[in-house]
Amino acid sequence: MSGPNGQITIRRATDADAVEAASLLRRSITELCVPDHGNDTARLSHWLSNKTPEHFRGWLADPLNTIFVAILDGRIASAGGIREGEGIVLNYIHPEMRFRGVSSAMMDHLEAELARSGASHVDLVSTITARRFYERRGYTERNLPPEQRPPYGIAMRKRLGL
Ligand SMILES: CC(C)(COP(=O)(O)OP(=O)(O)OC[C@H]1O[C@@H](n2cnc3c(N)ncnc32)[C@H](O)[C@@H]1OP(=O)(O)O)[C@@H](O)C(=O)NCCC(=O)NCCS
Repeated sequence: MSGPNGQITIRRATDADAVEAASLLRRSITELCVPDHGNDTARLSHWLSNKTPEHFRGWLADPLNTIFVAILDGRIASAGGIREGEGIVLNYIHPEMRFRGVSSAMMDHLEAELARSGASHVDLVSTITARRFYERRGYTERNLPPEQRPPYGIAMRKRLGL
């Protein structure tokens, strides 16, 4: 995809991306998701505990996952992914690449992948930080019973093909 902010390329993530991608995830959560963790040390370290290169490689090795990276200016600008039966489970932007259309391009890509696989809707758990971004893309909060609600974040859904 080419726009005024440069060329965004989305491709499948590989093991060689693990160090850069894990660093991006950690920076995105630490620097951008302050409305969610409130700089609370315990909450933040729990959230970051699986954002390591080893975990990233583990996600790639799991056949239920399909993980992508978006490249802009020669760097990994975002990481996104889907998990069979769960929907979109990963969508983080590098703090220095924010507001350049990268997450919109990644969401277009992930939603198209799910549509191709025959999905009628897309589920995700949004941060407070990203909630308005998803609402603008047509996602609405799901009205789940308390025992089915995610421990953190907001369960959202969008119907495809409408
Ligand atoms: C919210 C977020 C996901 C958006 O990612 P992004 O790559 O910056 O998004 P884009 O550039 O594709 O689009 C951003 C939107 O912000 C708008 N925007 C552009 N510049 C802006 C600015 N300076 N300030 C506020 N909004 C701006 C864009 O117009 C666009 O709105 P639209 O969707 O109505 O067109 C990202 O900024 C973020 O905060 N990520 C933190 C990690 C996170 O919470 N991930 C979600 C996990 S579920």
